Amino acid sequence: MSETKLSCVACGASYPLWELRYSCSCEGLLEVTQASSSKLGLPELFEKRLMSRKVWDRSGVWRFREGLFPLSETSYVSMPEGQTGYYEVPGLTRWAGVEHLAFKHEGENPSGSFKDRGMCAAVTAAKKLGVTTLACASTGNTSSSLAAYAARAGLKAFVFLPAGKVSAGKMAQTLAYGAKVLAVKGDFDDAMQIVRSLAQAGRVYMVNSLNPFRIEGQKTIIWELLQDRNWEAPDWILVPGGNLGNTSAFGKAIEEAYQWGWIQKKPRLATIQAMGASPFFRSYERGFQSLEPMQAETVATAIRIGHPVNFTRAVKAIEKTRGVVAAVSDAEIMAAKAAIDRSGLGCEPASAASLAGLKQLVAASIIRPEEDVVAILTGHVLKDTDAIMQSQDLSCYDVDADRASIEAVLDRLS
Ligand code: F0G
Repeated sequence: MSETKLSCVACGASYPLWELRYSCSCEGLLEVTQASSSKLGLPELFEKRLMSRKVWDRSGVWRFREGLFPLSETSYVSMPEGQTGYYEVPGLTRWAGVEHLAFKHEGENPSGSFKDRGMCAAVTAAKKLGVTTLACASTGNTSSSLAAYAARAGLKAFVFLPAGKVSAGKMAQTLAYGAKVLAVKGDFDDAMQIVRSLAQAGRVYMVNSLNPFRIEGQKTIIWELLQDRNWEAPDWILVPGGNLGNTSAFGKAIEEAYQWGWIQKKPRLATIQAMGASPFFRSYERGFQSLEPMQAETVATAIRIGHPVNFTRAVKAIEKTRGVVAAVSDAEIMAAKAAIDRSGLGCEPASAASLAGLKQLVAASIIRPEEDVVAILTGHVLKDTDAIMQSQDLSCYDVDADRASIEAVLDRLS
């Protein structure tokens, strides 16, 4: 039986799973490759675990542990994350122009975004490796998640944020959990380069999605949504793309679920970028010949990224799933966000890119109306309240504390 190990996505070289490294000696990105033991009956085991009271069975990440990386059960760091809602919303289905649409709401994770699924895995790996100082570059969600999980595990966290470009809620959350915040005078891509070089020099343990364990945790978004659907794969899965960690994780999760006999067909992946931060989309249009970094600008600050570090992994994910990449304008993102918010689900702007992208791909006849679609909502509505107050036609009514005048206002609004 072959071992679980780290393998290079570029040249195929392999390294021991617990060797502390982020890239191959050829500079290629590393991924965890699973031991070759049979994974065939695991969905039944995952189902049984839903009845358990143990945290590592209830967690929407560690419930799937045989498909991630092996450790003794008590070493898993957990809150417990995942177990997010799976929603069908008839109004939004009509809005998008399809017949079958569901949302997986990753904003329901402990720190309010999907990052918790990757972060519990990276922090668990950090403990196993014996490192004590963790770091990430972030547009605000990775930092909140790192801050929370480092606090939970008793480790130190340094986060590097683009100064003035992170929503107030994410900044407050990151500080509240006790991370040390360095506001970099530059953008996310500058902060990312700094963290990479600090990590190479051994100063910090990097938990951005370059870290292969992050990708392992994020695979469970796909596996949990497949479990929600009784292991019936949809035709399409749509996800917003920034640094492309999720796109990479989704490609790996789909491929493995298919290879291991958990699903009978592979869903197609659609990564949706904001037009002002769309280097992956531009590369896709040129047949993925190269990646040209760009200066990013978008209302969806979570995906304001011009030089995605997971590019090569993400290309593989799109190619292996016969996927597509699209880009939507800020106006399209905010229109989709308003529709999601009014449905009661709510999400932050970047998350709404998935629904905006769906509408565009249906209009372009790339997704057919009768196809079965799942869209991922990546972050909670409270993650970016500034975006709500600034761009939606919303305000409260100031009233005197007097019944008669309030009744007059009620009459006017009824
Ligand atoms: N949606 C939200 C809410 C995000 O926070 C991010 C990334 C993405 C989508 C894009 O995911 O990078 O895997 O393609 N946020 C990172 C952060 C960059 O630092 O919080 P991706």
